[in-house]
Formats: sequence, C-alpha cells, structure tokens
Amino acid sequence: MTYLKPLVSVFFFALLVVFNAGCNKKEDASTAQDKLVTQQESRSSTGMEQLEVYKSPTCGCCSGWVDHMSAAGFSVNSHDLDNLVPVKQSHGIGRETQSCHTAVSKEGFVFEGHVPAKFVKRFLAEKPENARGLAVPAMPVGTPGMEMGDRFMPYQVLLLKTDGSTEVYAQVSRADEQH
Ligand code: CU
Ligand code: CU
Repeated sequence: MTYLKPLVSVFFFALLVVFNAGCNKKEDASTAQDKLVTQQESRSSTGMEQLEVYKSPTCGCCSGWVDHMSAAGFSVNSHDLDNLVPVKQSHGIGRETQSCHTAVSKEGFVFEGHVPAKFVKRFLAEKPENARGLAVPAMPVGTPGMEMGDRFMPYQVLLLKTDGSTEVYAQVSRADEQH
C-alpha cells in the first residue's frame, strides 16, 4: 500500500492549490474594492463631490444654483427647511456673509450662496489651510442661479477662515470669469 502515499500527497497538494486559488480570488476582490475607493476619493477631489444643500422650499434661485452644481458634476441632496437660521448658526455663517442657501460637503466644508462650481472645485482641490469654505454674500445678479438676461453685478467670493474672519478668494468682474 506504500504506492498510495505519493498519491495521497499529490491529492493534498492539489487541495492546497485549490484553497490558495480561492484565497487569491478573495484578495483580488478586496484589491478591486480598494481601487474603487481610491477612484471615488480621487473623483471627489476633482469635483464629483456630494453636497447637502439647505434652502427654503420656495427659493427659485436656490434651485437654479443646485442645477448649476449638478451640471458641473456634483451630486446634490437638497433639504427644504422653513427656518435656515440654525443651519447658518451651526456652520458659523455670520450675518455679513449670509445668502439664501447653505451647502455642506461630506468633509464639512461650507459653501454659502451662489458660489460658482469652478471655485467650489478649486477650493476642494486646494483645501486651503485654516479655511472652512467659501461664501458669496447676498445674491449678486448674474451669479449661477441668479441669471437675469445679460445683467451682471461684479462680486467677490470670500474665503471663510476657521477663526471667523474672511479673505477675498476671488474677484469676479465679468460673467465669463465664472466658468
Ligand atoms: Cu439665491
Ligand atoms: Cu439659494
């Protein structure tokens, strides 16, 4: 019966190979998942970021801005609220920087008002130090969502700093500088 011994070892060797193959497959799957996560992360840094938008239910220009952001590749969740004061307060949006709606990124950055997608993308790519987000105070005519024919009101995009101060992030003097 000794001739069976090599056969038995061959059998076990074959089993080992099968098990290893199974393990490798699992590893492949998790590597694929890692790749997916990396892709999603890099996608978010190029602007395919999710935004929670808080607005009042009747705000037409807010919906215009949401459409502008969606067209630029953002995935936007709209939340209609009758009272936006708590949202502005909890994100530290002072009266002088407030606008109609407040957008919050997954990482917690805030974008107040009609900030063009171009600047939101730039901010998320740069993630400037000691900054909480951007704001376009009030509602300048001609900003995304605030289009009124050819009318355009020059405005500034403000950088909201973590210490509560603001800085000019961008000066927008012409409508075409928004795209
Ligand atoms: Cu508005
Ligand atoms: Cu709005």
